[in-house]
Amino acid sequence: MEHANTLSLTVNGTKVSRTVQPRTHLIDFLRDELGLTGSHIGCEHGVCGACTVRVDGTIVRGCLTLAVQCEGKAVDTVEGLSDSGELAQLQQAFHERNALQCGYCTPGMLVAALDLVKSEPDATRERIREHLSGNYCRCTGYQAIVDAIETVLVLRRGGGKTQRAQK
Ligand code: FES
Ligand code: FES
Repeated sequence: MEHANTLSLTVNGTKVSRTVQPRTHLIDFLRDELGLTGSHIGCEHGVCGACTVRVDGTIVRGCLTLAVQCEGKAVDTVEGLSDSGELAQLQQAFHERNALQCGYCTPGMLVAALDLVKSEPDATRERIREHLSGNYCRCTGYQAIVDAIETVLVLRRGGGKTQRAQK
């Protein structure tokens, strides 16, 4: 029988403490234990990106990360990043550009996109595509998603034209 661990961490700015099994994945802990169902589960083996969350500022796959690995760390999910306003520009741009259909991939896309917007303000369309290459979308064909993220990058640079508009 597995030995349960006490896990203490900060989730979306709130300290939480729970007893978990060592094999519990972070995504299951967030969804089942904390009721944070914004992050989705798709492939469950690190391919689709639906489960993307942030741990100590770095994006990770919630399905490949064990909850116990997050002891003492700060985890941010799409709910927290939305409530804090960090995602507001991207959410608006996704809405305006029709960058979602069923929305299943969207939480992971937004968290991955925010990581790029913050770390690479000068990212090109090619870099956006590279950065999102681990996030699968079965509906949109990606063009609108890239458009939305490029729009936010251009806005944050103080305006100007998107690469697409220049063509
Ligand atoms: S569910 Fe984690 S990458 Fe697909
Ligand atoms: S909007 Fe349906 S999977 Fe991306």
